[in-house]
Amino acid sequence: MDIDKNHIGPIGVFDSGFGGLSILREIRKTLPQYDYLFLGDNARAPYGTRSFEIVYEFTLQAVKYLFSQGCHLVILACNTASAKALRTIQQNDLPLIDPSWRVLGVIRPTVEAIGNISKNGHVGVFGTPGTVLSQSYDIEIAHLYPNFRVFSHACPMWVPLVENREAAGDGADFFVRKDIGALTSQCPDIDTVILGCTHYPLLMPKIRQYMPQGIQVIEQGPIVAESLKDYLARHPEIDVHCSKSGSCRYLTTDNADKFSSLASIFVNETVTASKITL
Ligand code: DGL
Repeated sequence: MDIDKNHIGPIGVFDSGFGGLSILREIRKTLPQYDYLFLGDNARAPYGTRSFEIVYEFTLQAVKYLFSQGCHLVILACNTASAKALRTIQQNDLPLIDPSWRVLGVIRPTVEAIGNISKNGHVGVFGTPGTVLSQSYDIEIAHLYPNFRVFSHACPMWVPLVENREAAGDGADFFVRKDIGALTSQCPDIDTVILGCTHYPLLMPKIRQYMPQGIQVIEQGPIVAESLKDYLARHPEIDVHCSKSGSCRYLTTDNADKFSSLASIFVNETVTASKITL
């Protein structure tokens, strides 16, 4: 990579596909003055059923690409990548690429926030098979709140429903109801459920319809946005590298028109994406 280190650039936001738009939307509401460069690896989504090695390899490629486009700070708006690739990238790759650049994930800020939300400490987590198998939420929650109990359930069909534009279809009703039943049957008094996959808020109407009353459903977008705001305020040496003219550009590894038409619905403005190859 050939990069001017003094350059300022957009904040990179990465996801395997469309899900990261649920994070980007909230970040832009909270921090509208910054420039953003979103990258969706739609051609290779979903990541949730892929091995550790492949998720790491794909995520590192995406991070390097965003750095090469001038980003100094990249948000992994993807729980699967945060669970499987973030630590290795932070500990092994960033010191070699440039120790002053940053890659942040979505799991830690979410876990920090639920301490103020759950009343009885019985927390449910929905995630991709990769995120649930990694036990990243269990580990982080045990670390911060040793008295909490965590009940996880993987929803392998939810991401394909979103990626294939079936989030509002009848098939979504079947799987959302089934998976909510599977989670809540593990413990009758779960009071908080984390949507631990950035695609899942796109199924929110169905999730609200089938979630038993009294259970709070936690979306990550507003939490990650507040956490980023706080991070930039505490790290002026990173903030100074983030350009601020309020722009947002979109990149996808799949067909640009296909991405643009669905992304426009999610972010509620016209999106004109460009196709790139990682
Ligand atoms: N949206 C991502 C997540 O938060 C990845 C979903 C996938 O590609 O399986 O986990």
